[in-house]
Amino acid sequence: MKTNLSHHHLLLTLTLSTLLSTLIHATPPPPTVTCNAGDVNCTVTNGYGIYPDRTTCKAASVARPADESELLSVVSDASQKKQHMKVVTVHSHSIPKLSCPGGLDGEGLVISTENLNSVMNVDPLRGRMTVGGGITLRGLIDAAAENGLALPHSPYWEGMTLGGLIGTGSHGSSLSGKGPAVHEYVVGVRLVVPSTSAGGDGKYARVVELVEGNEELLAAKVSLGVLGVISQVTLQLEPMFKRSITNRVEGDDGFENQIAAFGSMTEFGDITWYPSQGRVVFRDDFRVPITTKGIGLNDFTGFRAQPRLIIEGIRTTGTHCESLTTYTTHNPSGKCVLSTGQVTILLESGLGLKNRDGSLLEFTGYPVIGNQSDMQTSGSCLNGKDDLLLTTCGWDRRIHGLRYHQTTVSIPLTNITSFISDVKKLRDINRDSLCGVELYSGFLMRFIKASTAYLGKTADSVDIDITYYRSNDPLDPRLDEDVLEEIEQMALFKYKGMPHLGKNRNVGFVGMREKLGAKGDLFVKAMEKYDPEGLFSSDWTDAVLGLRGKALTVEKKGCALEGLCICSRDEHCAPEKGYLCRPGMVYTESRVCRREDDGLLKMEVL
Ligand SMILES: Cc1cc2nc3c(=O)[nH]c(=O)nc-3n(C[C@H](O)[C@H](O)[C@H](O)COP(=O)(O)OP(=O)(O)OC[C@H]3O[C@@H](n4cnc5c(N)ncnc54)[C@H](O)[C@@H]3O)c2cc1C
Ligand SMILES: *[C@@H]1O[C@H](CO)[C@@H](O)[C@H](O)[C@H]1NC(C)=O
Ligand SMILES: *[C@@H]1O[C@H](CO)[C@@H](O)[C@H](O)[C@H]1NC(C)=O
Ligand SMILES: *[C@@H]1O[C@H](CO)[C@@H](O)[C@H](O)[C@H]1NC(C)=O
Repeated sequence: MKTNLSHHHLLLTLTLSTLLSTLIHATPPPPTVTCNAGDVNCTVTNGYGIYPDRTTCKAASVARPADESELLSVVSDASQKKQHMKVVTVHSHSIPKLSCPGGLDGEGLVISTENLNSVMNVDPLRGRMTVGGGITLRGLIDAAAENGLALPHSPYWEGMTLGGLIGTGSHGSSLSGKGPAVHEYVVGVRLVVPSTSAGGDGKYARVVELVEGNEELLAAKVSLGVLGVISQVTLQLEPMFKRSITNRVEGDDGFENQIAAFGSMTEFGDITWYPSQGRVVFRDDFRVPITTKGIGLNDFTGFRAQPRLIIEGIRTTGTHCESLTTYTTHNPSGKCVLSTGQVTILLESGLGLKNRDGSLLEFTGYPVIGNQSDMQTSGSCLNGKDDLLLTTCGWDRRIHGLRYHQTTVSIPLTNITSFISDVKKLRDINRDSLCGVELYSGFLMRFIKASTAYLGKTADSVDIDITYYRSNDPLDPRLDEDVLEEIEQMALFKYKGMPHLGKNRNVGFVGMREKLGAKGDLFVKAMEKYDPEGLFSSDWTDAVLGLRGKALTVEKKGCALEGLCICSRDEHCAPEKGYLCRPGMVYTESRVCRREDDGLLKMEVL
């Protein structure tokens, strides 16, 4: 009875929100740096308004250089004072604590790249373009398209900046050519780095120009922001082309054996797995000649502006399901009904693809064909003016919106079949245990190639994005907490997966430096060359890179619930709510917080 109601409620809200979002504009996200007086005494955060460890961040001031010479002065002044620095971008979309300067809280400088967003040079003949490091992905794609050029691969979200997205190795999906990471198409970088002494110009900073063939370019491509400020980037682009997209839904029997073959056949395709529903969506996605008919547009539903009331409603429903199970009965079926309904509607509406063929309906059928620049990425919730209905991106922090954890790990292609079979074994123990993930797009699986960039991928891999509910209360365990923790540890330790540098909880980075092997050492060498005093480093980047003895994990009450540690004692979970530290069920080396279904179940409140 109850579940039926919420099912209809969700159907209605999703339909409504699709209707409404075509009629209204979005309210732009709030700034990530806010200061007390002018540009001093600032508070810094990320786009979600929360770091994985829930700490806050203060900075002495913010600088907003408008060009490279102002940038050089800014870095020089701070460098002379030996002040810690960090680049912040217009929205700072990374989840880890990457937007916070190192040193003592409140004493560092943040350098915003929001004004370093111009196009410096376009060479249509060679297909090259030079742009400021702060240009947004959308700005970059549009500027290229005006010149008949296309960025061959990109992340799926257009709101990040070029400096930020290459800084964390961001990517789309592909095993062809150089692969899907934007940094593979970087052929030049101008970097502003600090100096320990004044140069001929009296400045304690200098510009380093790196081009193809310079070894340090392999460090600068994926730099985690620790080498200095990326002032300009030159990209190798391609003539504009079109893409043809069809989403094909199948059952998940044996699909783990088809992943590698599918990857080698599709230029841009990906796979979304809904494990509890047993459904897999293969995105058949390939290049077609520019002369092919079609003006399709990708306006992914999840990245559209959502009216506040609807997002808050969904969050409340989610919280309701979570708390029901936490405190009383183990009954995730509410989530499963919701997820099946939501996925069905999304698939029927083409996941936000628009044919633009003159019909009143947005989506009229497959294939959807359109220019690369219209198909490769989306994010309409960002481009709008303030509106009365207060529509925002789903995760907007000013509203009681979506809060989630994200575990994003690349599993070597050679191991993907066994990894998925392991996850299936876990799923088969309790089929409902992964419904929660399906409310956040399931397991999104993208192909990525080994990279020569020092912090890039070490093997051809399948990058798996798993997004799931995060409670407002850090001591509140999640529904089926143990299953996702086991999958996270299995991906990271059994299959030695590499974490996405811009996503993940703290545990995602445990052992990363070792996994990088010799490439990690080469990166640290470049770091010591350009920023020997570590002015662009912070406790977090040191921890990730295994430097200066900084710790990645924090052992305290409830730490495993938020991925701040791997539990070794019950108090790392939530013993008072019945969640104890236990071995995994399939990967028995893992240690996870599991609800022991004994006495508590009998105390059900009805
Ligand atoms: C909705 C959403 C969807 C996403 N989809 C994808 C996806 O499809 N694929 C994918 O791979 N990732 C994806 N991501 C992750 C995202 O690409 C990364 O987190 C990316 O790093 C964010 O870029 P940003 O410009 O916001 O940078 P930030 O998060 O602000 O910065 C990242 C790091 O780079 C440094 N930095 C930024 N600019 C410069 C510069 N000019 N010079 C030196 N250092 C700099 C910062 O100091 C920081 O350390 C997604 C994120 C969101 C929120
Ligand atoms: C900066 O912050 C400190 C502590 O919060 C406060 O005492 C001081 O007055 C602030 N200065 C300005 C200029 O706002
Ligand atoms: C697609 O790209 C071509 C070539 O650059 C351009 O002429 C055309 O206008 C673009 N189509 C759309 C719908 O933007
Ligand atoms: C991953 O694949 C490699 C190469 O095939 C193999 O040696 C290794 O044992 C695999 N790891 C696991 C955990 O299956």
